[in-house]
Amino acid sequence: MDEEPSNPESPDDAAESRRSLSAFQRDATVTDGGLREQFDREWPDCWADAAALLEWAEPYDEILEDDDAPFYRWFVGGRLNAAENCVDRHLEAGRKNQVALRWEGKRGERRTYTYHDLHREVSAVAAALRDLGVEEDDVVTCYLPKLPELPITMLACTRIGALHNVVFAGFAPDALVERMAGTDSSALVTCDGAFREGTAVNQKRKADAALAELEATVPTIVVDRLGPENETRLGPEQYDYGTLVERFDGADVPPVPRAATDPLFHIHTSGTTGEPQRMTHATGGYLAGTAWTSRTVFDLSPGDTYWCTADLGWITGHSYVVYGPLSRGATVVLAEGSLRYPDRHRPWEIIERNGVEVFYTTPGVIRTFMKWGESFPAEHDRSSLRLLGTVGEPIGPDTWEWYHTHVGDGRCPIVDTWWQTETGAILLSTIPGVDETKPGAAGPPLPGVEAAVVDADGRELPPGEPGYLTLTKPWPSMLSPLEGDRYWVLAEYWQQFSDRRADTWRYFTGDRAVVDEDGYVTIIGRADDVVTVGNRRLGTAELEAAITAVDGVTEAAAVAGSAGGDTDLYVFATAAQERTDRDRLRGAIRDAVVERVGRFVEPAAVVFTPELPETHSGKTMYRVLESIVDDARLEDTEPLRNPAIVGELETLWESG
Ligand code: WTA
Repeated sequence: MDEEPSNPESPDDAAESRRSLSAFQRDATVTDGGLREQFDREWPDCWADAAALLEWAEPYDEILEDDDAPFYRWFVGGRLNAAENCVDRHLEAGRKNQVALRWEGKRGERRTYTYHDLHREVSAVAAALRDLGVEEDDVVTCYLPKLPELPITMLACTRIGALHNVVFAGFAPDALVERMAGTDSSALVTCDGAFREGTAVNQKRKADAALAELEATVPTIVVDRLGPENETRLGPEQYDYGTLVERFDGADVPPVPRAATDPLFHIHTSGTTGEPQRMTHATGGYLAGTAWTSRTVFDLSPGDTYWCTADLGWITGHSYVVYGPLSRGATVVLAEGSLRYPDRHRPWEIIERNGVEVFYTTPGVIRTFMKWGESFPAEHDRSSLRLLGTVGEPIGPDTWEWYHTHVGDGRCPIVDTWWQTETGAILLSTIPGVDETKPGAAGPPLPGVEAAVVDADGRELPPGEPGYLTLTKPWPSMLSPLEGDRYWVLAEYWQQFSDRRADTWRYFTGDRAVVDEDGYVTIIGRADDVVTVGNRRLGTAELEAAITAVDGVTEAAAVAGSAGGDTDLYVFATAAQERTDRDRLRGAIRDAVVERVGRFVEPAAVVFTPELPETHSGKTMYRVLESIVDDARLEDTEPLRNPAIVGELETLWESG
């Protein structure tokens, strides 16, 4: 994916984006063009503005404490509760009957929760969790698809000061076991199943398989999604969600004030090691960051209707389905299931029916819409939309243009938001009420954020020269690892570009990027061994370990590519000489990946090659494989030990 950054803008586009900017600007909340300068001048005190968007049980004494850098601590001395900030305070502000959540089920069901409803059910689930023995600082794993019960359970955990650990419902049992054991989870919340394109799929069987692998019995709450026609048997220590909510309905569970530096949740991400990595966010900084960006970037105010298509198993679902928008008092649309079921009108019907004002999705989803064609959005009323967002991978100018024209009717600004699981909240983006957009470029760092593109030795590069993206100042929603995770976090993010003797810390994002004369950053792609498939980050090491465990496979490399339009996983493998049953091996590789990681990542193709492209030092050159899959121009094959392999791979790819 090391393609040349595209030329961001032609003069016509510039004129057009300025026009749409002015229409949006009339009503925008943040229109202060001097915000960046102000934040620079007042840093880090400027971040008090973000903290001021929250309700504090006790005020903080210090904005930023850096004694233990790079393990920075934000809003030290302050106490607050996330559920109180996302729910209770809206009741006090007279918004109890405002809609907090609008859920659109896969089978056409619709459910609406007001902030009052949310408060009641969150309290009931919080009481139920306590009754099952969950205490402050315990971890509750949630293994649920996009049901209202998921954000409700997340908020119930935070209400009692427990941490949630959401695991994507599409993951296989092995992945769940690893993530539960790795967080020492004391409870699990899951469901009986889900409907996939109309058929019931058993989720509980996967959960039960995982529970059987754990050392101790873990109390489990089971949400009934499949209805009475699909009976589910509950085992010992398994409880029906609905029964518990009924039993604890009306419970008074006061929110537990947490120190700003206390952990709020765990979430797992993929890094360069084979293991999933346990990430942790701190209560105060994370909430301040997500609330502030929801206001500044998404322009969310109480009552605004907002839809983000992300799954709650990923950080986007945490920050921009739950914490950011709910802390702003917005109305959040949550759509279960596939956007193509029952038909391709579904996304536009959801926008039309709910009057969605702000829409946030990924370039992958937009490319799918493009493939379906512009007639689908054109048939629906999209006049409620006023702002569009994108996240997760670079959005090419063509996709940007299509989104702008056919979804936003040329009048909605687009925010191309760059951030990561580790950053907690958006760090690079235009502010739609202030900045001009440049299709293809994420945008400049937000106020208070400082980024630099550097070469391999950490020297800052001039505009136009691609290099590694680093962050040179701490930010409130930054990763806040537990004591036991500090060692690998230091190695993974802080070691490469920091000067420890001078005590100057630079965070390495793992991305390659280029910055232009105006400070706009264009992301080129990942620099490390991580692939993004379906907007999910996966470590190549983890995938490859699953593949090479297949009998007869000797080596493997997994890359993401968009040969088929969507971003898919492609596998290149070498096989033991005596193995001539390639089709059987292909099947075994597919099964291994699905079993280890989940069906969503099933390889689109498996190509056998006599050898992998390797550098002189024996590192797989993913760049070579990516350019073959994406049919892109191959640059600089100099580091290859075996340059002849390129031609051979191209032939194999075309014939395979
Ligand atoms: C990529 C998702 C280009 C990037 C919030 C980053 C992007 C990784 C953008 C984090 C963007 C995210 N343009 N690339 N606007 N946003 N990325 O942790 O490579 O799932 O490092 O967080 O996605 O993925 P993660």
